[in-house]
Amino acid sequence: MTVEWRPDGRQLHLANGLVSCVLRVADDDALLLLHHGAPLPLGQDYAHLAPTPTPRHGERVGDPMPSAYPTSGIGDFRIPALLARGPDGASTLRPQYRSHAVEPGKPALPGLPSTYVESPDEAETLTVTLGDDLTGLFLDLRWTLYRDRPIVTRSATIRATTAALDLDTVMSAVIDLPDDDWILLTLDGTWAREAELHERPLIHGRVAIDSTRGISSAQHNPLLVLRRPPTDEAHGEALGLSLVYSGNFLAEAEVDSFATTRLRIGIEPTTFGWHLDPGASFTTPEVVVAWSDAGLGGLSAAFHGLFRERLARGTWRDRDRPILLNNWEATYYDFDTERLVAIATSARDLGVELFVLDDGWFGHRDADDTSLGDWVVDRRKLPDGLDALARRITDLGLRFGLWIEPEMVSPDSDLFRAHPDWAIGVPGRERTQSRRQLVLDLGRPEVVDHLADALTAVFAGAPISYVKWDMNRPVTEPYSLGLPPERQGEMAHRAVLGMYELYRRLTERFPDILFESCASGGARFDPGLLAFAPQGWTSDDTDAIERLAIQWGTSLAYPLGAMGAHVSAVPNHQTGRVTPIATRAAVAMFGVFGYELDPTALTDDERTAIRDQIALYTRHRATFQRGTFHRLASPLDPSRRHAAWMVVAADGAEAIVGVYGTLNRPTPESLRVRLRGLDPAATYTLSMWPEIPGDPLAPAATGPRTGADLHATGLVFDRERHAAATLGDFWARLIVLERR
Ligand code: GLA
Repeated sequence: MTVEWRPDGRQLHLANGLVSCVLRVADDDALLLLHHGAPLPLGQDYAHLAPTPTPRHGERVGDPMPSAYPTSGIGDFRIPALLARGPDGASTLRPQYRSHAVEPGKPALPGLPSTYVESPDEAETLTVTLGDDLTGLFLDLRWTLYRDRPIVTRSATIRATTAALDLDTVMSAVIDLPDDDWILLTLDGTWAREAELHERPLIHGRVAIDSTRGISSAQHNPLLVLRRPPTDEAHGEALGLSLVYSGNFLAEAEVDSFATTRLRIGIEPTTFGWHLDPGASFTTPEVVVAWSDAGLGGLSAAFHGLFRERLARGTWRDRDRPILLNNWEATYYDFDTERLVAIATSARDLGVELFVLDDGWFGHRDADDTSLGDWVVDRRKLPDGLDALARRITDLGLRFGLWIEPEMVSPDSDLFRAHPDWAIGVPGRERTQSRRQLVLDLGRPEVVDHLADALTAVFAGAPISYVKWDMNRPVTEPYSLGLPPERQGEMAHRAVLGMYELYRRLTERFPDILFESCASGGARFDPGLLAFAPQGWTSDDTDAIERLAIQWGTSLAYPLGAMGAHVSAVPNHQTGRVTPIATRAAVAMFGVFGYELDPTALTDDERTAIRDQIALYTRHRATFQRGTFHRLASPLDPSRRHAAWMVVAADGAEAIVGVYGTLNRPTPESLRVRLRGLDPAATYTLSMWPEIPGDPLAPAATGPRTGADLHATGLVFDRERHAAATLGDFWARLIVLERR
């Protein structure tokens, strides 16, 4: 890992053998990013990668110069990284190279979550400083290169020196690529349908995803992935940009008339504005850029490793996460102490480790129309208080967890009656309703202080070891009474910073609490929150078949240990679908496993099945939560009736393959699942779960077999085609491989 400076060509080359970035200071002192991708040899001059100015003009107007941080007004008409106005109101900027510095390690970003190092030799950070003479605008552009990872992180700080500045667009990074031979992948959706993976070729013009909802959103994840057309899961080139941010974002690709591609990612500009007085600065969120020539699987593995090891932090980062049971789908708002204790007792008997009390325990909340903001126990439901309930649960040998939604306030709440101005809204204008609740303005320090105190009292008042932090509506009528009219553009970002500050205070004050983020399911499932809450509720959709697609898509960037996944009752509350309990478990085990049902309402067979599921998950928990994940057969492929994925233990000693049948058919077509990530020379013992007498799929687990064979020929599920009628729809099998 090194940052090589070649003074003669004014070239900077970040290289670690896995990825290279080449920057160059042009003759006019502009900073160019000549390359971000495949590792290149050090000790070389890469001037030949820079286009030369069009001879006809002798200047650069309209030429696709690969600017490291493009600005507007100086002949580059593509999407810019930065739009800012100086005192004269002009938005033309020409930032020019002033200096650069290389330091070991990686600095933290003020007020923002970011990836980190545990020792300075894990990464090197290059900061290039550019300055614009006329406005006094200075830019500190940072590139951090990790050792042993194909990862570079970027962020930018804009400084006003001599005069005030108004920032209109400030991207975290722009990357110019020399061609457009790429397919763009994004994760899109809506409530209960998050992380649908969509692909489209890049074409001339612009394609963008964004959020203006105040949260990163279920509609689009703050992630852009490009793959070369032949790239598949295991082979070929892929590039990914993941924004460590939980608010409004923009991620965009533009192909220009020369078929070069510009990518940009950062805070969404139409809902943003920031005023800098002289001496003030603004720092963008971080973007993590991963590159791989080992296919989308290689790209995902790079993101997973970094997010698991150097984005998540705290006590729970590397620890086994408990198997939980959440009472939401069991009771909704309708419970009392005895009902909860009965559920918890039954859950404990099944092997569950953590009981989570969801929405409805505070104020007088029997529906979604009241009490958010009043974080005081409802003594009608829990007459002896939260502490007494929590102690009864912990006396059962379970951990106790609690649901909160700190950023919200119900119009019917003591908090709203006391502080109506703390809710976001434009004075004199009606507020748009959503789930009959309003969003608090966390951009105001007094709101954050209040919430920190109120929640500290809750968390300190009972033996709570897990918190589910929800966020159930988007921001509308964005306006802060804490800001003057001319600074309203700052409101959305300040609210995100306030939310991070609240998370920081509570996670530091309660380091032993495991936080799980949630936003109506996966509406704020992003790297920003992973820095505080190492796991998130992936989706309110717990249907096993829907979850195949949701977890498949989410895994593009996020590791299994970040994805909450639960077995729920059937008919499923979101789809009405009935699936076997083994299938629901076989999907949910590829994540942080748990249950979302009423255990007192189960049949004896279901109870036996759940005990067996918990035993299996517990035995392989480290692999499921911290292993290397491989996507094998896509649930999104319409030509298939099955899906498959697998996870390999960090030490390679075991692997678990999940294979899922969707709609069954007679005399089915070939069904072989070729595996990845095994040791070709090793021999593995195979076993199948669940064990079903006479199972026509059982021959797939015949062994022992070598890794080389399993890679080349795969698990053979099609030996007994004639028995298809015994399978039915929605079957699932796990194949456990143990290295001998
Ligand atoms: C959101 C969450 C659910 C549940 C409810 C409670 O929808 O995603 O899991 O906590 O809120 O109101």
